[in-house]
Amino acid sequence: MRRYLPLLFVALGAAGTTPASCAVSAWWWCAAGPLLALTGLGCRDLVQRRDSVLRARPLVGRLPRPPRPKRDEGVRDVYAVGHEFLVPSMRPVEPPEEAPVVRVGGPDCRLPYDMALLNVSGMSFGALSPRAVLALGRGAALGRFAQDTGEGGLSEYHLRGGGDLIWEIGTGYFGCRTEDGGFDAREFADKAALPEVRCVSLKVSQGAAPGGGGVLPGVKVSAEVARERGVPVGGAVVSPPHHRVFSTPRELVLFLARLRELASGKPVGIKLCVGSRREFLAVCRAMVAEGVTPDFVVVDGAEGGTGAAPAQSPGRLGMPLTEGLITVHNALVGAGLRDRVRIGASGKVATGADLVTRLVQGADYTNSARAMMLALGCARAHRCHTNTCPTGITTQDPLRTRALHVGDKSRRVHHYQRATVHDALRIMAAMGVRGPGELRPAHLVRRTGPTTVRSYAELHEWLEPGALLAGPPESWAADWKAADPDSFS
Ligand SMILES: Cc1cc2nc3c(=O)[nH]c(=O)nc-3n(C[C@H](O)[C@H](O)[C@H](O)COP(=O)(O)O)c2cc1C
Repeated sequence: MRRYLPLLFVALGAAGTTPASCAVSAWWWCAAGPLLALTGLGCRDLVQRRDSVLRARPLVGRLPRPPRPKRDEGVRDVYAVGHEFLVPSMRPVEPPEEAPVVRVGGPDCRLPYDMALLNVSGMSFGALSPRAVLALGRGAALGRFAQDTGEGGLSEYHLRGGGDLIWEIGTGYFGCRTEDGGFDAREFADKAALPEVRCVSLKVSQGAAPGGGGVLPGVKVSAEVARERGVPVGGAVVSPPHHRVFSTPRELVLFLARLRELASGKPVGIKLCVGSRREFLAVCRAMVAEGVTPDFVVVDGAEGGTGAAPAQSPGRLGMPLTEGLITVHNALVGAGLRDRVRIGASGKVATGADLVTRLVQGADYTNSARAMMLALGCARAHRCHTNTCPTGITTQDPLRTRALHVGDKSRRVHHYQRATVHDALRIMAAMGVRGPGELRPAHLVRRTGPTTVRSYAELHEWLEPGALLAGPPESWAADWKAADPDSFS
């Protein structure tokens, strides 16, 4: 309410001085005129839809804001060691008119899904406001891309958004949770049958907090959020650090098969931030042993974000996305499973070049969380965990969420996704490739010294299909041997 006080005072001032200008002295117009103008301006701020900060703070929002960090594109030191660039061709091609999609669904999947190259990454209702969830969903519906629900359950706002949904299940099993916090198979099957649910994602870990469950501060647990999650109002929601339904890699893959059956054959996958290569290889060994594969694996980088609580040890726990992606891609190729499993990448994908870079590194498609928040009008106030987000994105306070106009922001989300994918297609065309399938590690180059550059083909080892089964190369042999389908440790 305090946010509207300046406008209220100005309006009261105008209401007091205007009659005085008519009745007492024309000199009062010197005060009444500016106050009336400010009142008009403030009312305009309040109803306009484009600027969330002005909607939330009429008049005051016009005061100078702290400068946004500058985009470093173009000013980046191209001679700095570590600088990366994509390789254009001397024989570019025309970009395709239609954006390609990626078919997700292995041999055990009965309802494959055509995934866009860029989708909305998991962000739960609770971390996000109702309007933010709705705007992302409507944007996804307009652009025919997918919205991941995040681990907070399948809320009515996700369903009302109308976009294709990836329903994420975390260790709290929100949305399919028994009273004692376990997995409720019947509730899961009922909800997974909804036509809006196109895929199911089991969150094993998240880049912002690998080894820890999701955290939603009590201040954000409104009555609505509590109802969706089946938890008490106002109490912090701390998901358990690990799943109850599996404790070994083999149990994990068998649980995925069970989820797929319960979901009538819809694609089922996992999301994880890779810790050790051996651990992921253990999961691959379990897949090979059981003949069961997830339909997709989403790799999150240690640089990943969270809107619910401040990130724990950001970037210090888990593999950064580049390494995680290359590890997962190689492990699946080496285990002869890559043609059955699609790989998604989430981690600071904001531009077309970011998207193409992730495709070169092994992804089939990408997801974006924070860039989508920017499309929603995020002002990077870094108050996501305090329930005081000034742009109405990460708050459950109804007065603050009013800042976000769903119609305007859903169009922006749609335009942002479309422009980014088109940019990626244009970049690929400039590289002389007609689509993601033609990208190779040699298309990405890193500066390794003041006068040296090396391509990803030279910098990293890329396994041949089935190489791990046939006899792993020396560099993989110890990890492959130690990988145990019946133990994560
Ligand atoms: C507001 C917010 C909420 C998030 N909630 C979830 C979640 O519920 N489940 C999940 O797997 N990841 C969650 N994440 C992580 C993102 O899905 C994503 O993996 C990570 O932020 C990296 O992508 P980015 O760099 O595009 O933000 C959340 C991130 C943000 C910013």
